Amino acid sequence: MSKRDLISIMDYTKEEYLRIMELAAEFEKNPNQDLLKGKVVATLFFEPSTRTRLSFETAINRLGGKVIGFSDSNNSSVSKGETLYDTIKIVSNYADLIIIRHPLEGSARYAAEISSVPVINAGDGANQHPSQTLLDMYSIKKTQGTLDNLNIFMVGDLKYGRTVHSLLMAISQFENPIFNFIAPEELQIPKEYKIYLKEKGIRFFEHPEFTDIISEADIVYMTRVQKERFSDPIEYENVKNVFILKNKMLEKTKPNMRILHPLPRINEISRDVDQNKKAYYFQQAHNGIFAREAIIAHTLGLD
Ligand code: CP
Repeated sequence: MSKRDLISIMDYTKEEYLRIMELAAEFEKNPNQDLLKGKVVATLFFEPSTRTRLSFETAINRLGGKVIGFSDSNNSSVSKGETLYDTIKIVSNYADLIIIRHPLEGSARYAAEISSVPVINAGDGANQHPSQTLLDMYSIKKTQGTLDNLNIFMVGDLKYGRTVHSLLMAISQFENPIFNFIAPEELQIPKEYKIYLKEKGIRFFEHPEFTDIISEADIVYMTRVQKERFSDPIEYENVKNVFILKNKMLEKTKPNMRILHPLPRINEISRDVDQNKKAYYFQQAHNGIFAREAIIAHTLGLD
């Protein structure tokens, strides 16, 4: 059997998304299992991370596996000039699975081509973050009971926010979604995603600011303005405070609406929202452990 990598969210079928949802629910009920006994997983993080790395490592530990790797490539031989090619060649001889985050778009796909063991993309530049998408979908399914017929608002940095790109493509596989994109013009959803939605006949609307239409949302997916992706710091300064969600803005929203955010948050969700029952981002991050246990089990054919 050829190895199963998870590089783009489109590497999985709709049936596989649903299988991951099912498995994640099982792991949530019983997180500690010995599926990875005797296995070693390498986490190679060339970019900073709190949730993705630590929830993957928690998942590996809860499944009885061992973790090797680095959270800062300055502590690896990359700092001496070793190439990504050589790093992956070496590590794929040490581990049964590689989980990689890298600033360059396409780097995870490149790693998968070199590696003899499966590779999971933990974020490649502004491109994709598929394990985040699967935990987002798990959070949506848990709170809405379905992945069909949802009106999803995506807010903030829709240009560089890789989690938005992956989520949009995944939800597009389900019945009758509507997307509302709220972003300043310079951070709007890239053209290729709009073309993708048009080709699939999916409705979407763009807004330059928050409007009362938020009352129609099932999910409000907030994002951070991705400072590290801007080449011009002045451009970042101009947009960094444009969208801040405040508690009083939620008064007319649907009772079952939930606010998601991949985190980290800077200032785009005011702290007064945290006490609102519609704020779901901390539970969402917790769901990451179960979704990632499911992804690892599926990737290694242990499900
Ligand atoms: N959501 C997410 O990718 O968070 P980290 O950057 O902390 O991993």
